[in-house]
Amino acid sequence: MNILKKSILASCTLLSCGLVASQAQSNVMEIQILQPKKEIAIQPNMWGIFFEDINFAADGGLYAEMVKNRSFEFINSPLMGWIVYGPNEIRTEQPCFDRNPHYIRLSNQGLRSGTGLVNEGFRGMGVVKDETYRVVFYARTVETPEMKVQFELMNSDGNNGGRVEIMVNSSNWTKYEAILTASRTDEKARLRVNTRNLGTIDVDHISMFPSKTWKNRENGLRLDLAQALADLSPKVFRFPGGCIIEGNTLETRYNWKNSVGPVENRPINENRWNYTFQHRFTPDYFQTYGLGFFEFFQFCEDIGADALPVVSCGLACQYESKEKVAFEDLNCYVQDALDLIEFANGPVTSTWGKVRADMGHPEAFNLKMIGIGNEQWGEDFPKYLNEFIVAIRAKYPEIKIVGSSGPQSDGKDFDYLWPEMKRLKVDLVDEHYYRDPNWFLSNARRYDNYDRKGPKVFAGEYACHDGRDKHNTFYSALCEAAFMTGLERNADVVHLATYAPLFAHIDAWQWRPDMIWYDNLRSVKSANYYVQQLYSTHAGTHVWDAISNGKTLAGEEGIYASVVRDSKSNQIILKVANTQKEKKAVKINLSSIKASISNQATHILFKSELGNENTLENPNLAVPVQQQIEIANKVLATEINSESFNIYILNMN
Ligand code: AHR
Repeated sequence: MNILKKSILASCTLLSCGLVASQAQSNVMEIQILQPKKEIAIQPNMWGIFFEDINFAADGGLYAEMVKNRSFEFINSPLMGWIVYGPNEIRTEQPCFDRNPHYIRLSNQGLRSGTGLVNEGFRGMGVVKDETYRVVFYARTVETPEMKVQFELMNSDGNNGGRVEIMVNSSNWTKYEAILTASRTDEKARLRVNTRNLGTIDVDHISMFPSKTWKNRENGLRLDLAQALADLSPKVFRFPGGCIIEGNTLETRYNWKNSVGPVENRPINENRWNYTFQHRFTPDYFQTYGLGFFEFFQFCEDIGADALPVVSCGLACQYESKEKVAFEDLNCYVQDALDLIEFANGPVTSTWGKVRADMGHPEAFNLKMIGIGNEQWGEDFPKYLNEFIVAIRAKYPEIKIVGSSGPQSDGKDFDYLWPEMKRLKVDLVDEHYYRDPNWFLSNARRYDNYDRKGPKVFAGEYACHDGRDKHNTFYSALCEAAFMTGLERNADVVHLATYAPLFAHIDAWQWRPDMIWYDNLRSVKSANYYVQQLYSTHAGTHVWDAISNGKTLAGEEGIYASVVRDSKSNQIILKVANTQKEKKAVKINLSSIKASISNQATHILFKSELGNENTLENPNLAVPVQQQIEIANKVLATEINSESFNIYILNMN
């Protein structure tokens, strides 16, 4: 596993068996590992990720486009992100793209300043010395035989950082491309577009991507961020939100149909995180849909995750508005959901299957499930949801449907919605909990008594909010790790789990904590990332029991534990969180395991100061480390580090 340093932390005090013998017997916790009579199978896609377009996660984040407002379509602000000099005009007559009609007319009349424009990027543009960048734009000359256009990287000190010239020589809209090479590394470069002779041109869709994107796709994803997601080994991928699928108004809900087809003609949408939190006001936050549903499905396929798209149920975000579509008009929302399934899975001869095929993917994406609504509450939701269920079950009985239990982990709305979800027979119920450390530590038994016969649980958004500032502290990650033993122990009822939110740009975030932070060049994995990764890469296939004094461990003496068997690797994987300030002597008794156990085992220790937080400058404050340990006579006697999360990987023969 590449994230794990194969060194031993100086602070690691793991002891092999004999050393603990000196401990007073009463202080040693005995943990028995038992194979249950009937093993619970763990869903192969249990651990995943939730991509939400918040904190510049799509435009300015995972989507590798470097030009902000490339199509001059930002609502009511067609020049936002641009500095324009010389005679210019925003126009819409005879546009290049009918659904993105704005373009800019530049007239070079020989003024001393020249005529052109500069794009500021998403809080700058990150460029790397000697790397290349692919510029694409559309232009036409206007009563001008030809116009030389120069594209120039401007470094943050104002100096030139690489330039290229292109001749525009057609009075019809034409696509032009060029390659720019950066002469310097700069996190906050800008792009200048300059006309080089007298005359007039119209320009639209000015785009620049790094040549190196994930899988080198032209409309691609930022390499380091996509790789960080792939390294999580997620098996399910929920997208594209969150509240954005609802919209603050129905008109501005995420409209997946606008997010497919040629990228230049995908119409802009506002992003509700633009203005929702006034203390984190982000007026330049829009959705170009450049990272759209095709790209999401393709990425799921790339990383081997099941796609879980979520669509509006016809209710706008209930925190912000009471707007809902009239019940008799709900059909077009239901149709959107049906069409989405057709887009993903339909034959190339179907309307939406053809759209997918025309985008280069004739094979089906093998969609298995769909979420209807996000954090809804009240009586309208079950009533509206039922219409979707009836239509989807009739046409696509194999598709699983995810309902919602509202925005809270418990309380009136939650208590109303769960029985409703059972009545409607949804397959999974999405639960959300953004709660404090105490909640996470005291809820490790949350699912022990859940009804096994009803819908399954999708822990769709959760994160431990540590303190007023909600940083991604090691403590928050430790509390999540402890809580997640309870998800794992209850894998027969908890079928899917995804931390939230996923991404945040350090200069443009609205919400924290978040799993991965980045600027325009670098990214950092939070302690919470590593907990998610440790679970997803040690998921196992079947739940076993870890018992002490006849009870599973969900906080007894500060210890939380779960254990799984992995039928593919023939391993037993024990996860133990110690939330106490003192280390804990334990004797892990493996004698009831029929198979013989290899003497060599692996211990992964995740420990840091509770307040530590990985940052771009200091990314390795909280990183798991791995070492080999010895087991003798089916007993692992050890000390669990104080305030640590541990994984023991035992090999059966
Ligand atoms: O993750 C941030 C927001 O939290 C999501 O959009 C919403 O579903 C929840 O309220």
